[in-house]
Amino acid sequence: MKPSDRIFVALDTVDVEHAVALARQLKGTVGGVKIGAEFFTASGPDGFERVAEVGLPVFLDLKFHDIPNTVERAVRAAIKLKPFMLNVHAMGGEFMLRAAAAAAEETAAEAGIERPLVLAVTVLTSLSAADLAAMGISASLPRQVTRLAVLARDCGLDGVVCSCAEIMALRGACGARFKLIVPGIRPSWAAGDDHKRMITPADAIALGADYLVIGRPIIRAADPAEAARRICDEIACLSDAAPRSDGD
Ligand code: C5P
Repeated sequence: MKPSDRIFVALDTVDVEHAVALARQLKGTVGGVKIGAEFFTASGPDGFERVAEVGLPVFLDLKFHDIPNTVERAVRAAIKLKPFMLNVHAMGGEFMLRAAAAAAEETAAEAGIERPLVLAVTVLTSLSAADLAAMGISASLPRQVTRLAVLARDCGLDGVVCSCAEIMALRGACGARFKLIVPGIRPSWAAGDDHKRMITPADAIALGADYLVIGRPIIRAADPAEAARRICDEIACLSDAAPRSDGD
């Protein structure tokens, strides 16, 4: 995999034309784009299609969390859009996770398309240990994250979205093939914005991240394509120095 293929740019906007313009500027420079609940709620499948038409892989970040039957149907509907990755909440539990994985497999096979990666969200990075305790979860935050990631893997999911602090533990617990998608990425030259914990793109890859989700340092840059190129160059320098052994 080329360094640039590891970067997914969060198109955090409700403006379809802006999202399409950004995707056009970034095509050829990054691996894909991410569409989240804000954009999808405002612009729906039509907005998704407009962005997808640009030709970059799309991560559909809708974090489904419902009873197994509803999530299965939501995943079936999502697959018609041909995303490269989509996600669900691991807290939906075993049957919901298995239903999501099976729905992705079956629907993609029926449509004759490649199955998207199905990812889990473990514990939202906005939640603290105190928040977990208030919800009656007595496990420590790292233990809860690892437990949910292992559950997701055992239910047939392809990976998880995780913070930089969790990369090493999850790589150890879930194995080399389990995909780790990491937001909270900040190049040394960019503002931290609202992130409490962040990591540079090269360090995240060195620790074992498979894909990086990067928003504001790219989409709010004066020249988004140039900012993306700079990040890719930083990752490429690291890859040249220490090639990864994961075979991709
Ligand atoms: O602008 P920034 O690089 O901070 O954007 C990060 C993106 O990653 C946003 O779309 C945000 O919703 C997403 N994110 C996430 N999971 C987290 C933290 C951020 O998907 N735990």
